Amino acid sequence: MTRALILGGTGVIGRAIALHLATAGWHVRVTGRNPGNMPSELIAAGVRFVAVDRCDRRRLHAVLGSGLDLLVDCVCYTGGDAHVLVELAHHATSTVLMSSKAVYVDAEGNHANSEIKPRFDGPLHESASVMPPGDLDDNSREGYGANKVAAENVALDSGLRISVLRPSLVHGIGARRPREWVFVKRVLDRRPAVLLANRGAGVIHTTAAANIAALVETVARRPGARILNIADPDYPTAAEISRMITHHLGYRWAEVPLQTAEHPTLGATPWDTPDPVTLDTGAAVALGYQPAGNYADTVRAQNDWLVSTARSDDPAQLLPQPDDRYFSRFFNYPEEDRYFAQHLRALSQL
Ligand SMILES: NC(=O)c1ccc[n+]([C@@H]2O[C@H](COP(=O)([O-])OP(=O)(O)OC[C@H]3O[C@@H](n4cnc5c(N)ncnc54)[C@H](OP(=O)(O)O)[C@@H]3O)[C@@H](O)[C@H]2O)c1
Repeated sequence: MTRALILGGTGVIGRAIALHLATAGWHVRVTGRNPGNMPSELIAAGVRFVAVDRCDRRRLHAVLGSGLDLLVDCVCYTGGDAHVLVELAHHATSTVLMSSKAVYVDAEGNHANSEIKPRFDGPLHESASVMPPGDLDDNSREGYGANKVAAENVALDSGLRISVLRPSLVHGIGARRPREWVFVKRVLDRRPAVLLANRGAGVIHTTAAANIAALVETVARRPGARILNIADPDYPTAAEISRMITHHLGYRWAEVPLQTAEHPTLGATPWDTPDPVTLDTGAAVALGYQPAGNYADTVRAQNDWLVSTARSDDPAQLLPQPDDRYFSRFFNYPEEDRYFAQHLRALSQL
């Protein structure tokens, strides 16, 4: 039986990979710090949980044992982490390092986490410019992409068969930052209208965790040293994402496109950007990867999970709370309500 170990395997990406492989007949183990984060669907699929901190190098070697067919690292954030991954990768036929599209920079040096949004000419190929490699101790927003570059470099310089995957904005069951929550929560709160900055035209490529899982199985069958973008076959705008969610949840609201310059603090969504940020996934397809589905097909499971979790006994454990640093900026209902009151007549005609 083929054997896989997924470091950080109880998160949104790891659990999708674990489920995909276990369903395909693999023997799968996942690691994490907290056994309470082990999804019940993985237990039901026969996946085993092993408690080990990513910093505990000796125990990681012990867990790895005599060797593996596939090692996937979902908690590799720095060059230092990658040095440990390389040690482990000597004992695996194929290894995957989960990086990010946050590594890419435009001609001005701007990137996904810059104050100034990046401007790319078109879909990003794996050969596009990336940030200079970062310092191990830099935990800033800027540091995330730079440290991922340092990790990628260590992995690829090793000469081992390590596939570096660069996902974009990931969606899937169990997401700790489920970006679609900005619309799903509004539906659950029965908001009368949705305001969309930048006329809802923003595009930042989405990546289904299920599509990452499909690519991981492909690289497991074809080990090699390479970088691969991974994103959905399509790239919906913020407005299209909003419509897919209301359609799926059977809800109607007025859609209000805003010019961002006139209303700088209203209508923000996670997909806001003046210029599209999309990934060229041709290299993955050329390798034989077949997507699990497009955005509309793959995002439904996450959105159903969001709704059922919100209606469960303990939603606070899994869903973003009002003081969440990332989400709070998207939920300024009092300011929205003032806008609705001022524009009531126009809205009632939409
Ligand atoms: N989500 C996205 O939108 C996105 C986009 C691009 C790239 N990525 C990259 O993809 C990778 C996986 O992301 P994800 O979204 O799946 O993360 P996630 O949902 O936050 O899951 C993280 C996983 O790692 C475990 N973990 C965290 N710290 C650990 C530690 N010190 N030792 C051992 N286990 C640890 C967590 O379990 P415990 O907390 O129980 O330890 C969990 O299993 C990351 O490297 C991230 O940079 C993510």
